[in-house]
Amino acid sequence: MARHAGVICTSHVPAIGKAIALRQQQQTYWKPFFDGYRAVHGWLDRLRPDVVVLIYNDHGLNFFLDKLPTFAVGAAPEYRNADEGWGLPTIAPFPGDPQLSWHLIESLVAEEFDITMCQEMLVDHAFVVPMQLLWPMGPPWPVKTVPICINTVQHPLPTAHRCHRLGQAIGRAIDAYDEDVNVLVLGTGGLSHQLDGARAGFINKQFDHLCLEQLVSDPEALTRYSNIELVELAGTQGIEILMWIAARATLLGDVTQVHRNYHVPISNTASGVLVMEPRETSGPRERAGSGTRRDQIAG
Ligand code: DHB
Ligand code: FE
Repeated sequence: MARHAGVICTSHVPAIGKAIALRQQQQTYWKPFFDGYRAVHGWLDRLRPDVVVLIYNDHGLNFFLDKLPTFAVGAAPEYRNADEGWGLPTIAPFPGDPQLSWHLIESLVAEEFDITMCQEMLVDHAFVVPMQLLWPMGPPWPVKTVPICINTVQHPLPTAHRCHRLGQAIGRAIDAYDEDVNVLVLGTGGLSHQLDGARAGFINKQFDHLCLEQLVSDPEALTRYSNIELVELAGTQGIEILMWIAARATLLGDVTQVHRNYHVPISNTASGVLVMEPRETSGPRERAGSGTRRDQIAG
């Protein structure tokens, strides 16, 4: 049977991809941010996932205002990247896992999620940058991938409650997958940020920390916020917390926080990374709250 090994939630700011391309990881601005991923690399080395189910929001590369599915699941043998206009180099294709994709699609539709299934899908910075952060040596990528896309472009967006329920259904599908594979779930976006309008540059550290705590200890609590409330609290693009809510929900029981890092700002964003694993796989020294944690406020 498949093993759901854990969840990583991370920001996906395009400027990170630019810093990687320019090899600026050791520069003063970037070092505290990139250092926050070292513990993640150590955990991934121990975990050795075979496949990543990557929950992210497309920003207009694959889906645009003409057609915008609420939930889309990739079922392609590979996923290509393309120029979005951020000045990022395009990157070699990511291997897909059509067998797991179709298993997830079958399970989600059976659970009455009316998803869009995509046998071709371009992946944008919200997919590429987190993959580069987790596996800095890639490509070639050591994992297969299944992209799952949640609409944050065209309102109405799915509610936090619905995204949480989607995550739970993905988690049940992973648990029922009859292949001997280690599955990692990755949720990308957030934390608080707003790129446009009168509140451009808005960041809410207090709410970000509340989210980081509640994702670990009481994820249902976050489903009580309406999307308007989430936008008020986290900024228009901070609504990307929906990805973190969905990803966390794929772990159906209690979790242990393995690592977290919070760093403000990266570009216009309060960046965060949070690693969680199922409680029962944790050793005695890794109980909740005793994982690594660093909060950094720069600038
Ligand atoms: C930024 C953050 C995002 O999540 C994104 O998709 C694009 C830009 C930023 O802070 O620059
Ligand atoms: Fe984004």
